[in-house]
Amino acid sequence: MEFFTLENKNGLKLTFTNYGGIVSKIHVPDRDGAFADVALGFETVEEYQDHNDAYFGAIIGRYGNRIGKGRFELDGSEVSGLAINNGENHLHGGLKGFDKVVWQTEAVSGDGYTGMKLTYRSADGEEGYPGNLDASVIYKLTDANEWVIEYEATTDKATVFNPTQHAYFNLAGHDGPSPLDHEMQINAAFFTPTDHGGIPTGEIKSVEGTDMDFRQARVYGETIDSEDSLISRLGGYDHNWVLDKQYGELGLAAVAYDPKSGREMKVFTTEPGVQFYAGNFLDGSLTGKGGKVYQKRDGFCLETQHFPDSPNKGHFPATTLRPGQVFRSKTVYAFGVR
Ligand code: BGC
Repeated sequence: MEFFTLENKNGLKLTFTNYGGIVSKIHVPDRDGAFADVALGFETVEEYQDHNDAYFGAIIGRYGNRIGKGRFELDGSEVSGLAINNGENHLHGGLKGFDKVVWQTEAVSGDGYTGMKLTYRSADGEEGYPGNLDASVIYKLTDANEWVIEYEATTDKATVFNPTQHAYFNLAGHDGPSPLDHEMQINAAFFTPTDHGGIPTGEIKSVEGTDMDFRQARVYGETIDSEDSLISRLGGYDHNWVLDKQYGELGLAAVAYDPKSGREMKVFTTEPGVQFYAGNFLDGSLTGKGGKVYQKRDGFCLETQHFPDSPNKGHFPATTLRPGQVFRSKTVYAFGVR
């Protein structure tokens, strides 16, 4: 296992490993041109292997976020036996998900970018999922200061597939002051409320008049301890928002902004949803790069995805992938300053 670094003409750098496709460092400038590493993570592959319970920087698959009770019906037959690894539910692909496998690598490049293609064959039955699934994830770093992620997959049996990227960001620098003073904007008028275990109830609920409303940019730390039970039951922001954009087309999901450094990150995706997870479960037990101890809410994730538990929610956009179809999905994290 090894680390790779992509660098663009402006000096931005993206470092990742073929173990789990884990992105361990993202160096981007502030408004004065000073670079900082804005991704939470560890220094070595061994640390990721031993204790990346937080999924720092990893590719998540086969299914990003939760599947209720680790079971669902597919074409009339029951798929069960997915690992129950989060309360009574299945989370992030199971015990050995895409975050814990070794990916094949191949350098790719083109006009205005350098990149790496990561490929992995997930065998029929792996972690309980049907079908041999051939997955690829391309990471690109463009000269427009974008980290582009392109997912593709095919299968030889009907299955479900919902990959995402689990990078944790702090735009002040991973070892800087807490991101709770960042402004967050999420391009969504609706979200998917959940039960106490994070499984959507099935309702598509308006954000209007609630602390879930991020249609205008605002400091997310001010409402993260909201008394709204839909928020407090999950320990803060850890929800899927239903994006106000044409599903399948690349459109705006979210904008995060750190007023101190001036760093801004815009997230674009072809996916219908984004999970804004504010690092509520970080608790000081993980020590990262340079000895930085990550405390509660020291990083946030914007995980572009289909909605949690879609295999059990017929009215959510489907995550089924069938033989002959090609799964394609794209997400862009665009870095800038103000
Ligand atoms: C989930 C959180 C979970 C975290 C794991 C997020 O995608 O929504 O509930 O704790 O991943 O680090």
